Amino acid sequence: MDYKRYIAEKIKIDGVSADEIYSSVTLPPDTQMGDFALPCFKFAKIFRKSPAVIAEELKSAFNVDKVITEVSAVNGYLNFKVNRYEFAKTVISEIENRKDKFGSSVVGNGKTICIDYSSVNIAKPFHIGHLSTTVIGGALYKLFKFLGYNVVGINHLGDYGTQFGKLICAYKHWGNKEEVESGGIHAINDLYVRFNNEADEDMQAEAREYFKLIESGDEEANALFEWFKALTMDYVNAIYKKLNITFDSYAGERFYSDKMQPVIDELEEKRLLETSEGAKIVDLEKFGMPPCLILRSDGASLYATRDLAAAIYRKNTYDFYKCLYVVAYQQNLHFKQVFKVLELMGKDWASDLVHVAYGMVSLEDGAMSTRKGKVVWLEDVISKCIDKAYIIINEKNPELENKKEIAEKVGLGAVIFGALYNNKIKDIVFSYDKVLSFEGETSVYVQYTCARANSVLSKSMTGGSLPENYEPNTAEFELVKQLAQFPEILAEAADKYEPSYIARFAVDLAQKFNKFYIDCKILAAEDEKSRQFRLSLTSATLQTLKNSLSILGIGVPDKM
Ligand code: ARG
Repeated sequence: MDYKRYIAEKIKIDGVSADEIYSSVTLPPDTQMGDFALPCFKFAKIFRKSPAVIAEELKSAFNVDKVITEVSAVNGYLNFKVNRYEFAKTVISEIENRKDKFGSSVVGNGKTICIDYSSVNIAKPFHIGHLSTTVIGGALYKLFKFLGYNVVGINHLGDYGTQFGKLICAYKHWGNKEEVESGGIHAINDLYVRFNNEADEDMQAEAREYFKLIESGDEEANALFEWFKALTMDYVNAIYKKLNITFDSYAGERFYSDKMQPVIDELEEKRLLETSEGAKIVDLEKFGMPPCLILRSDGASLYATRDLAAAIYRKNTYDFYKCLYVVAYQQNLHFKQVFKVLELMGKDWASDLVHVAYGMVSLEDGAMSTRKGKVVWLEDVISKCIDKAYIIINEKNPELENKKEIAEKVGLGAVIFGALYNNKIKDIVFSYDKVLSFEGETSVYVQYTCARANSVLSKSMTGGSLPENYEPNTAEFELVKQLAQFPEILAEAADKYEPSYIARFAVDLAQKFNKFYIDCKILAAEDEKSRQFRLSLTSATLQTLKNSLSILGIGVPDKM
């Protein structure tokens, strides 16, 4: 049962819908005030009365019952107390019934969401800068599925451009098959870096020729390109697998090679295209933006041209309800331009395109993704986290079985959670010590809490079953209230495209559980009713923690 809904439906305010009341009902942080509250400040304008008077009037009109047992008006708030037992029973039985589906819903049924994320660049390093797009996109992917949407994960591969001509040229001059085969993406990247450092005019000209050969479908050039692409994909797929990341489409920039001309024709037809210094542009001055470049003066298409074609293709293919682009805020202008051009073309769905922007990630020593010559590969960050996790776990609990497996879950969780915990737009400094702390606001803390809950449950032998008529104490009830909020947190996270809400929820829940764990004896409870109730609560908490982490792509070890 949804208590907020229950309350909202019992309150009648002329001219205010039950939905509006529903969205105003909150859970005050301080239970002293009430379990639920309705702030009346919003209604003051409508009624031209003070919030305090409105709260008083609403209170008089409210009939308490078996579910809502008390109502009071304090400082412009209408406060409600619920029957703790009834409330706990509803929440815990729902979790017991729905298990790993608890929190899921059908709101998204019949709607498709495209999520463009991770979007790797072929033959370029997959570095720490790709961490956020990969894990934020991956979490949104799982979240929207959980909420019943049909989700299309798209890896918009960076597989188009003159750099592939350069790469082929470098390979022809300096490379050999065995080295590239065994060195994989690192070997390819070395060749590319060497080209940029050493290529002379002749080689530059040669590279341009190779690029043309790829474009014109030359067999050898394309075979080389496909080989570089396969090596890159083998490499990133191994990382995706570890991070629990999946895609439904790998249609990258190159896929749109033959889909740009119709867009250019349409722009022309709609008189949006202008010539400026030989290039074709869409003027956006009226909107306070620089022009969107569509074709360079040599006739070559651009990143934006391919994004225009991609958006139209996606709309035609998937008929999306929303299309998200999980891309760093450095590309704010790019997406504003692309979305505006589509709007000018008369695509009414342009307003369904969303740039989900996120901040930069740097390491504590100041190393950044793009710093020349010093790229931090994501793979290295992951291995380092797993290694460090192993050392910590081994120190804490040397007797543990399967330490390797556990360290893997803990290390990977730390990498993911580290990139997800803050509001996505914030720049973050990634610190190994911080993300691997057992004490802080980390996945390790949450996983450790799960292990603790697990250990209690397995020691109990039987688990718990909800007793009749039990009056939960405050620590127990706080925990129940936190559990009850999970579905709503998911809805808010989806609404704001903020997986961090889920990460924060999990930490809060773990903290409330640990408070309960310290305050209340579980296995050695004072009576059997309390023991049963606490065991049920423990297993409901464990389930909810697991559900939260699983949406973020993080696994939970049984023991730690
Ligand atoms: N590959 C691009 C980059 O690394 C990101 C692509 C994002 N997606 C898009 N449709 N533009 O910057």
